[in-house]
Amino acid sequence: MKPATTLDERVVVRNYLEAGDERALADDVLDGLTRPFKELPPKHLYDAIGADLFDRICEQPEYYPTRTERSILLDRAAEIVALTGASELVELGSGTAAKTRILLQAMGDAGTLRRYVPIDVTEGMVRDVARQLTEEHPELTVHGIVGDFERHLHHLPRPDGPRIIAFLGGTLGNFTPGSRRRFLRALAKLLRPQDHLLLGTDIVKDPAIIEAAYNDAAGVTAAFNRNVLRVVNRELDGDFDPEAFEHVAFFDREREWIEMRLRASRKLSVHVGALDLDLDFAPREEIRTEISAKFTPERLRSEFAAAGLELVELLTDPDGMFAVSLSRPQ
Ligand code: SAH
Ligand code: TRP
Repeated sequence: MKPATTLDERVVVRNYLEAGDERALADDVLDGLTRPFKELPPKHLYDAIGADLFDRICEQPEYYPTRTERSILLDRAAEIVALTGASELVELGSGTAAKTRILLQAMGDAGTLRRYVPIDVTEGMVRDVARQLTEEHPELTVHGIVGDFERHLHHLPRPDGPRIIAFLGGTLGNFTPGSRRRFLRALAKLLRPQDHLLLGTDIVKDPAIIEAAYNDAAGVTAAFNRNVLRVVNRELDGDFDPEAFEHVAFFDREREWIEMRLRASRKLSVHVGALDLDLDFAPREEIRTEISAKFTPERLRSEFAAAGLELVELLTDPDGMFAVSLSRPQ
């Protein structure tokens, strides 16, 4: 563990990612790209460049989840805070914490705000957010965690009052169903009786609307998707030509998820130096880079129940595009 870095007396940021995390990428590349159906786990999409591209995705007119989730939080933050009495907000995959500010403001207005605990793999974002938010809220302490929310939740600080664990942006949908179940169970165990999970999930709807959100006309999602190949080139001395791969995103109606892929435009040979690995791509062969599951309210309820969670409130926008749910341990 690296030593804590104190920005000022109200901010601490701990980094639990170590040299070993290039190993994690190496393992994922070796494992994922030598399978009969090639795939890469999505967390490698978010280096500093990927994080900026994701921010730009959120501003695209086709990408409805961010602005819809924001509108729900704007309408209902006071109610969420009143229902939970939370003094502490833990946020998984916090990113730039753009929507989190709405919750912190409502906690501040209610006079309960004490601490914010952002967790993200991208160190720069955790540091920037920690500094900005302590400046915006004089009563706030920030304990930032640079780490993987699948591996480092045991490093969360001891709770300081009733806690909300927020998992926004539909990121839960990026897990495969098995990992999703495991993860929800782990969260249910982490919650004490006075704590709540605040979860943002996208809702099943007209596939054309969903597909447009992942195929924006400006090509930002395509650039974001291809960026994972640049990450492999940089970190593992690879020679992928990102432009030789086409961005593909489609809604799988059976499984009710968006599937994102990179498709080789022709026969390609790629060398990954750090792994001494040669990869062959047939024309049109694909790498799966991300899924984004969409939910029905019934599905959410049954997955919560299976994880040991009880749904307290299901908040949606008037058009039923996106859901923010509040649940607690059964
Ligand atoms: N919560 C923000 C950002 C969502 S994008 C919003 O709603 O807009 C997903 C975020 O999760 C990114 O910031 C990414 O860096 C982070 N992330 C993805 N996988 C992660 C993992 N395994 N551990 C920690 N953070 C992760
Ligand atoms: N959590 C976001 C989602 O599922 C992540 C996301 C949005 C994403 N657009 C993307 C991930 C494009 C990869 C590529 O909606």
